[in-house]
Amino acid sequence: MKIVVTGGLGFIGSHTVVELQNEGFEVIAIDNLSNSSIEVLDGIERISGKKPIFENIDLREKAAVQNFFKKHSDVSGVIHFAASKAVGESVENPLLYYENNINALVYVLQEMTQLENSNFIFSSSCTVYGQAEVMPITENASVQPAMSPYGNTKQIGEEIITDVAKVTKMNSILLRYFNPIGAHESAEIGELPLGVPQNLVPFITQTAFGLRKELSVYGNDYPTPDGTAIRDYIHVVDLAKAHVIAMQRLLDNKNIDKVETFNLGTGTGSSVLEVIQSFEKVSGEKLNYKIVGRREGDITEAYANTDKANNILGWSAKLSLDESLASAWKWEQKIRS
Ligand SMILES: NC(=O)c1ccc[n+]([C@@H]2O[C@H](COP(=O)([O-])OP(=O)(O)OC[C@H]3O[C@@H](n4cnc5c(N)ncnc54)[C@H](O)[C@@H]3O)[C@@H](O)[C@H]2O)c1
Repeated sequence: MKIVVTGGLGFIGSHTVVELQNEGFEVIAIDNLSNSSIEVLDGIERISGKKPIFENIDLREKAAVQNFFKKHSDVSGVIHFAASKAVGESVENPLLYYENNINALVYVLQEMTQLENSNFIFSSSCTVYGQAEVMPITENASVQPAMSPYGNTKQIGEEIITDVAKVTKMNSILLRYFNPIGAHESAEIGELPLGVPQNLVPFITQTAFGLRKELSVYGNDYPTPDGTAIRDYIHVVDLAKAHVIAMQRLLDNKNIDKVETFNLGTGTGSSVLEVIQSFEKVSGEKLNYKIVGRREGDITEAYANTDKANNILGWSAKLSLDESLASAWKWEQKIRS
């Protein structure tokens, strides 16, 4: 069966391509390389022994999307990762985000819904919950007003898919990721942040490697046990595997609703200081960090209730925070060597 993975050379997309190929799917990866590199294809091949078919397409180009689906009308499903994801940049340049994350989604859906097999998986985010009142967060927690244009594109994306599924044969699963980290254990693929990383783990590994002077810990006065903010860090390989399971559910027509939503996290919250301690333990490196004021827009805590994914998808995260950080560190050392 042929599965299309948009953003297939990106961080989560590349790991998902590997897991799909490991399960025997034929994969067509689409990417415009705006936040990834063509060498990722070699990394994927070294791991899984197979290169996916690759199409360098910018999904903002409607005609290119149409041509692609004309050529590949026999695909069984689409996993849509392609998007811009830098929260700060989305505040500076909202139209770039609306164009890339919404127009591209609409163009893909316009073609997808014409296909015989219309199965669609969407990369959403726990940002839709904002600062949820109850921890851990279930899928029933209310969606809060978005705090950035990026977050808004995830909410609007979910709404577009829900509207479209009502009136077409498309079935869809919305996956709300918590905080994906780590890299493939082979260190053949991983995260490649452009410029100064906005996420904690790449900042930690770059600082430990000496690329950054020190890590700023934004706030130690949050109402948490050690005062630093709490997140649910999930290994990217666990996350990738959930996509394969979700796609298989759609292919087997096992979905109960036309649109289903699942949280993907470990179910455990870790504070910034706990992440630093874990990193120091697995890497043997002493991390240079300082406590600074809170960062605007950051919430106190977010971690997932994963019961729905555990019970309905039969999926749970297997890899620990230590394993995730060890893999991220191995990857950082590999790409700098
Ligand atoms: N990484 C996270 O922390 C996180 C958390 C929640 C949700 N998500 C979502 O998951 C998805 C994947 O995230 P990621 O971390 O792998 O990001 P990424 O930037 O590594 O991957 C996205 C890929 O899509 C490609 N792309 C972007 N715009 C495109 C376009 N118009 N046409 C074709 N290709 C395009 C990029 O070149 C990149 O390779 C995104 O939708 C993101 O919003 C990510």
